[in-house]
Amino acid sequence: MDMCGERPTPGLLLRLGILLTAVCVFIHLYLDSGWRGAPTPQGLGTPPQRYRKPGQHGRMKQASADSEERDRSVKGRVAYVRTLKKESPAKKGSEDREDPSPHHPHRKVPRWRIDLEPWASESHSLEDEAKRFLNYITTPQVSCSSFIGTDAVQRGSAGDWALCLDPMYSLVHRMQSKHCRVYSFGLGVYDRSLEASLATSGCEVHCFDPSLKQPHLQQAHMWLHRLSVDWRDPNPAAVAQHQYTTTRKLATILNNFGHREVDVLKADMESAEWKILENLILEDVLESVGQLLVELHLHWAGFEVSGDDPAVVRYWFSLLRELERAGFLLFHVHSDPKKPRVFLHKSILNASSAYTLSWVNTRWRTDRN
Ligand SMILES: *[C@@H]1O[C@H](CO)[C@@H](O)[C@H](O)[C@H]1NC(C)=O
Repeated sequence: MDMCGERPTPGLLLRLGILLTAVCVFIHLYLDSGWRGAPTPQGLGTPPQRYRKPGQHGRMKQASADSEERDRSVKGRVAYVRTLKKESPAKKGSEDREDPSPHHPHRKVPRWRIDLEPWASESHSLEDEAKRFLNYITTPQVSCSSFIGTDAVQRGSAGDWALCLDPMYSLVHRMQSKHCRVYSFGLGVYDRSLEASLATSGCEVHCFDPSLKQPHLQQAHMWLHRLSVDWRDPNPAAVAQHQYTTTRKLATILNNFGHREVDVLKADMESAEWKILENLILEDVLESVGQLLVELHLHWAGFEVSGDDPAVVRYWFSLLRELERAGFLLFHVHSDPKKPRVFLHKSILNASSAYTLSWVNTRWRTDRN
C-alpha cells in the first residue's frame, strides 16, 4: 500500500478503513481467544507474541490477573523470549568473551574483536599502562645475529627499518634462492633504500603507493602499485561509482595478486596501523607473513581507536600480545631521537611519538608454495 506522493481519494480511504477494521477485529478475536487479556492498540502491527518484549507481557499480566493458568503461560512465554535472547549470536558489548578456545593456534572461526589483556594495575592509570607498553615495545624477544636495513644499519648503528638475516630464519635462504617476496606500504614519499637493496638481492618487491599516476609501474627492479592497505575493503557502491579505489584489505590484495606468502611486510601507515594490525590478526592473514616491520605512532590514539587514554594503551598492548601469540617475536626496535617526545598528546616517561618495530614469525612455513 504505497500511498506516498499520491493524494488518497475518498474511495481509497474508505476501502482502507474497512480493511483496517477487519484486521483489528481479527487480531482482537485472536488475542482474546489466546490470552483473554486486554489487547492494546499496539497489538496492531507488532510482531507475534513470542517476539514481544517481556515488559509488554508484564503489562498484560497486570491487566487481568484472574487465572493462575494464564499466568503460568505468560511466564512460559517470557522464559522463551529470554532463551531466544541468550542464544542469539550477537554477543556484542560483552567484555569477557566466552570463547571456548581463546588461544587456539589454528582457529578458523571468524573473530570480531581481539582478546584484551588484563589492566596493568588495579588503578587503571595511564602511567602504569604506558610503563608496561613502553617496556614491552623496547624489549626485543629474540636476538638476531645479522641485520639488513636502511642506511643506518649499514653504518653499524641500529637503523630504523631492520630485517633479520640470521640463518635461523628463512629470509636469508629465500633471498639466496631468489624466492623472496616483499610488500612495502607507505603513504606519500618515503625512503625506498631498503626495498631497492632487497630487489637487487633477489627479492620480488612490491611497493604500494596510492599517489601513483598509473595503476602499476615497474621501476628499478621493483613493482609499484597504486594501492594502499586498509582494515576494510571499499564499499561496493563506491567501487561501482568510481570504478577505481585505492584501498584494500591485505587479504584482498594477496588474493588479487595470487600471492600466498610474503617474506617481508613493511608498513608505515601514519596511525592507521592499529586497525590494520587488528584486521590482520582477526583474519589470520599474518600466517602468510615471514617478517613484519611496522612504524607505531603514539602521539594520538590512531584512526578509529576509541576510549580514554589508559584504555587506548591497553588496547595497543593487547594487539601486540596477539602478535606474540601468533608466533611473532620482536627482534629490533628503533626510535628516532629527533622525533617529538609526545605520547597521547602528553609528555610521559620521555616516550617518543614513533617507534619502528621488527618481528619475525617463528611459525612461518614456506613449504606451502
Ligand atoms: C629523552 O629521550 C631522548 C632520546 O632518547 C634523550 O636524548 C633525552 O636525554 C631523554 N630525556 C630525558 C629527560 O630522559
